[in-house]
Amino acid sequence: MRIPPEKIDEIRNAADIVDTIGAVVKLKKRGKNFIGLCPFHTEKTPSFNVSQDRQMYHCFGCGVGGNVITFVMEYEKLTFVEAVRSLAERLGIALPAATDQDAGLASEQEQLYQVMRLAGKYFYTALTESAEGKPALDYLKDRGFTPETMKTFGLGYAPNSWDGFVKHATENGFATAHLEKAGLARKRPDGTYYDYFRGRAMFPIFSTAGKVIGFGARKLREDDPLAKYINSPETPIYNKSRVLYGLYHAKDAVREADSAILVEGYADLLAVFQAGIKNIVASSGTALTVDQIQLISRSTKNITIVYDADSAGSKAALRGVDLILASDLDVRVASLPEGDDPDSFVRKNGGAAFQALLERSVSFIDFISQAYEKQGKLSTPEGQALAVRTIVQSIASMKDELKQNFYIKQVAEKYKIYESTLFRELERLRGDTRRREGGAPNAAPPRQSAPVQARTSEAPLPTDERNLVHAMLEGGAPVITEIFAQIVLEDFTHPAARSLAGFLQARALKEEPLDPSALVNDLDDPAQKKLVSELLFSKYQVRLDDGTDFPQADPRKIAKDSIVVLRKNALTRMMKENQLEMKSAISRGEDGIPYLERDRQMSAELKQLEQGAHPAESGLAS
Ligand code: GTP
Ligand code: MN
Repeated sequence: MRIPPEKIDEIRNAADIVDTIGAVVKLKKRGKNFIGLCPFHTEKTPSFNVSQDRQMYHCFGCGVGGNVITFVMEYEKLTFVEAVRSLAERLGIALPAATDQDAGLASEQEQLYQVMRLAGKYFYTALTESAEGKPALDYLKDRGFTPETMKTFGLGYAPNSWDGFVKHATENGFATAHLEKAGLARKRPDGTYYDYFRGRAMFPIFSTAGKVIGFGARKLREDDPLAKYINSPETPIYNKSRVLYGLYHAKDAVREADSAILVEGYADLLAVFQAGIKNIVASSGTALTVDQIQLISRSTKNITIVYDADSAGSKAALRGVDLILASDLDVRVASLPEGDDPDSFVRKNGGAAFQALLERSVSFIDFISQAYEKQGKLSTPEGQALAVRTIVQSIASMKDELKQNFYIKQVAEKYKIYESTLFRELERLRGDTRRREGGAPNAAPPRQSAPVQARTSEAPLPTDERNLVHAMLEGGAPVITEIFAQIVLEDFTHPAARSLAGFLQARALKEEPLDPSALVNDLDDPAQKKLVSELLFSKYQVRLDDGTDFPQADPRKIAKDSIVVLRKNALTRMMKENQLEMKSAISRGEDGIPYLERDRQMSAELKQLEQGAHPAESGLAS
């Protein structure tokens, strides 16, 4: 189904790019722009720029750039239409609905999102409005969850029937095959389908964009013979290792607090969130993954693991610590009293007590040494050595050498050990890890992966061509018309600059809008797109650099000098070619006079330009 262009404009204008990107990338204000770590390539220093004024983004590291729609497309791996729909949904802008009957263009992913959404509503209604859902509602209430929490997190009840949802979804126009693909139904050998979730409390799992992508389903009765929790299977939209339960609801609070609390269970997250501590996410049963840490790292570099005091809990915490350190995030550990999980702790003691527990969290160094201490190991020299080695092992997993030094100093102080001894141990461990990774011991650490796009294949963009296209983008139709009164498109030598200039010229002629953020979606060539965003986030390449973003330079003034340079270069090139052609013409016995005449004209124009005239005045030929 086609989305009308006015709708697309409406959505683009309504979606603030800083809000949209800021929800998934930690942004800091820098001058007029916002800057953060690029979500599209690995980097340690931020080169990802977002401009509120222009509603555009650009990464100087890997070259990606565009407007709010291209961001959603690339970040969420969506098609243009899907991205527009996703934004529209978030903004509450109505678009023509699409179900299976008019599937047409809507892709499979979109179908899956829609069926998950339908399921979420169905389960929620069954919980809150049906008689059959009453025991489930009582169960959740008994566990202390308020109606508000149930609504916020869309908790639900899957009726205890074989085909309640299958029927409901079919009546709403969804194909059974899609229900199966979404993990909501299963196929019997006779070809009929039955509900995947039956008679359970439902915890929808949301994507970072706030869409239902899966469910966790808890049993309600002790005599339910199946597992305590049944989760959605992996589907094209649900990848367990890349999702954190609660992140969508927590991300603003995470950014605000500049830290994320990590717990294990669905109920744990809900209880703590409900108690007012909202910067919390849950790994929900799966062992923490690097992808999940990456998700958090877009909003903060500080994680506090809250773990159960039992030995399984502390093992999981230890593993989490190393994984987090290896991702170059900082980690602290808060431990619960024996026998409690975050949910039971908060219910018993309240939010303030949980906050106090967080404030008593310890660094990973203290966490490891406390673990050894509890086992009575720190009283012997061997036990101490083991503890120190474990700590240094964790330090060795960090990539940031400055941080390593900092922590080695802490360990040296804590255990009264010479730093040099610890550094030797660190070196040894680093050597080990490198050998495992196939590198030579003591070799320099593997270099950061190069920016994703190979830039070498592209010819550099000459300064003046760059400035001219830049001036066209900034100055709009009047400047474009003026520029093309003095040069011709062929004066551009760089392919992307030439094609972009041509595109702008055509648009200016047709009096079509030239708002850069609007035209990004009309460019097909990625090189052109990249150029637009890059230019808008760059200063004009004037010789003096005053360090400000977007200097208020007048595009006309900037263009003035560059026009002369472009025209001079073009004339020089053309004169050379002309001479070659003349030679070959004469060698063929043809008349050389027309070539000479052309040469005379061109050199006259060049001379005038060199004397400071402007192409318009010097009489641009053609
Ligand atoms: P409640 O008993 O509802 O409070 O759950 P809990 O979160 O305290 O459970 P537990 O600490 O046992 O498990 C933590 C998390 O692991 C849960 O929230 C689930 O995400 C997951 N989990 C627990 N049991 C199962 C299970 O049997 N199967 C699966 N797939 N996941 C489970
Ligand atoms: Mn629990």
